[in-house]
Amino acid sequence: MSTQAGQVFSREALEQVLKRRFFYAPSFEIYGGVSGFYDFGPPGCALQSNLIDVWRKHFILEEDMLEVDCTCLTPYEVLKTSGHVDKFADWMCKDLKTGEIFRADHLVEEVLEARLKGDKAARGIKEEVKEEDEDKKKRKKKVKEIKNVKLDDEVVAEYENILAQIDNYDGPALGELIAKYDITNPTTGGKLEPPVEFNLMFETAIGPSGNLKGYLRPETAQGQFLNFGKLLDYNNEKMPFASASIGRSFRNEIAPRSGLLRVREFIQAEIEHFVDPENKKHPRFVEVKDVKLNFLPSHVQESGHTETVEKSIGDAVAEGMVDNETLGYFIARIALYLASIGIDPKRTRFRQHMANEMAHYASDCWDAELHTSYGWIEAIGCADRSAYDLSVHAARTNEKLVVREPLPEPKTVERWECEIQKKKFGPKFRKDAGTVEKWLTSRTECELEDLAQELKSSGKITADVPEVGQVEIDSDLVSIDKVTRTEHIREYTPNVIEPSFGIGRILYSLFEHSFYTRENDADRGVLSLPPLVAPTKVLVVPLSNAAELKPITQKVSAYIRKQKLPFKVDDSSASIGKRYARNDELGTPFGITIDFDSVKDDSVTLRDRDTTKQVRGTFEDVVDAIKAMTYDGVSWDDATKNLKVFEGQTGE
Ligand code: ATP
Ligand code: GLY
Repeated sequence: MSTQAGQVFSREALEQVLKRRFFYAPSFEIYGGVSGFYDFGPPGCALQSNLIDVWRKHFILEEDMLEVDCTCLTPYEVLKTSGHVDKFADWMCKDLKTGEIFRADHLVEEVLEARLKGDKAARGIKEEVKEEDEDKKKRKKKVKEIKNVKLDDEVVAEYENILAQIDNYDGPALGELIAKYDITNPTTGGKLEPPVEFNLMFETAIGPSGNLKGYLRPETAQGQFLNFGKLLDYNNEKMPFASASIGRSFRNEIAPRSGLLRVREFIQAEIEHFVDPENKKHPRFVEVKDVKLNFLPSHVQESGHTETVEKSIGDAVAEGMVDNETLGYFIARIALYLASIGIDPKRTRFRQHMANEMAHYASDCWDAELHTSYGWIEAIGCADRSAYDLSVHAARTNEKLVVREPLPEPKTVERWECEIQKKKFGPKFRKDAGTVEKWLTSRTECELEDLAQELKSSGKITADVPEVGQVEIDSDLVSIDKVTRTEHIREYTPNVIEPSFGIGRILYSLFEHSFYTRENDADRGVLSLPPLVAPTKVLVVPLSNAAELKPITQKVSAYIRKQKLPFKVDDSSASIGKRYARNDELGTPFGITIDFDSVKDDSVTLRDRDTTKQVRGTFEDVVDAIKAMTYDGVSWDDATKNLKVFEGQTGE
């Protein structure tokens, strides 16, 4: 893998830079740290907030989305209704002797990969050297699996087939694989218990009584669904529209590792695009239809392969590979966002979920995956959540989370309706009358049909009404009949298309995609971050610390500050080359050198980080060029065409 032509990427060198320059570091480090938690230092904070800023402009402003900021703590009832209490789980298995815990799918993956590697070595097949996770390296020291043992050809094919669809196995299926292939604790060889489900939510109690159970939210999405009614109203009842939210989510991952890629607290940026289920066309699809992407459809994985196919999103939707225009529109917009922040499009692919791997709420899902030294990493999920969330919250709360639209022509329809005998209903149910009535009137057509049958056959309805319990409703209190009505309004529950971004995974992949070392100098690491997202845009370097250069340095600094360009001055006594090298590591794209000529005529030298090209002009012209390259995407050649090429000494 290389970031510069012919260069082998070194994760170790990158990690040293990230640590040395405090992009991020383990939280609570002086107490020994806790897996899955990281603190961000100054350049990490600036980079992260720039990624979010570009995200906000690219999605929220561009699409006129409605941003909300909801709480992280969420009561039990909300997440019970959404399905997270019952289904938001991964499969883990325990070593019977040592108590060590493994995430079942990761364990199977790791062991089978190790055996395939051993097989290749036994066959004398040389592999590209891959960087490995520190944890993985440590474990490997003792790993029994890493023996150079040749496997039968059929076994190799079976392993490859399993690995291509590892996300498609549920707990029992993983248990079968563990038994069939005799997978044990890789370090001790100890036997493992069959996989059991582990819910990933952090549980807590809200308030002093401890009676109100709650969770730290595992996604920002639920807050957006619960505010749907208010947002629709804010949007003057106009559909389609999207809400968006940026905030922290929490998951008690079984085995957090791989740095920022699998943590227990992370920033998500999520969009919920509410759309008419009968019309998932997108008015702006035409603008992106020619965007070419790499796709890995589910049927390819299910047949044991991982080759991608390159095609335009327009063709992918026309062929039905991507279900609808709105989903396709967001897939293309995700790709454009990633490219704009410096992610390598050649190391980006869109992988479709297989049937078993789909979240409990999703009907189709494509992950944007980024290639790193850890393999392909899911950085963004883009799911069609259908009407799942709004329907379950509406049913639980009896709130109508629907859209009502005037019909172009009145329509005659037959439908089931229930009529309540209020005079008898009130006295029978007393304080619960309102809740029971709301429950009855919010039943779906199918449910009403069933209730009508029940009423007819047994003269009463027996039902479990939330917050009330089991009730019996006799036929003298309610009648349910099929009636013919003329409708002027269409009422429907919108479907939701949800792009869900993990900012940390994008950030880490960006580090890998932009890191290289200077030619002939492996110690000089460069983060080639695009100016738009770089933490600092320009480094001001006086040639020496002579008193004579101080006033002009201050004048240039004041001007840059006024232009609101993030900058730093390095007037230390280190050589110019050293000062630029320090800033290469921080991803600073431009440098301004101030010398003794600057004192005479306000001219300065502008240096480009990646090419080390230099040009000369007045500091105002140079700063204008930097602004144009940073914020307007103007190329170096265009931005500097009125500046003079500078061949002078740089001290590098
Ligand atoms: P995985 O299968 O890798 O655990 P997931 O399928 O659970 O991921 P989603 O539930 O789709 O991930 O979450 C949406 C996005 O949130 C992901 O694409 C990812 O960028 C981010 N994300 C999820 N879990 C984590 C985590 N533990 N650490 C960092 N980012 C995460
Ligand atoms: N909202 C999607 C997810 O976090 O999984």
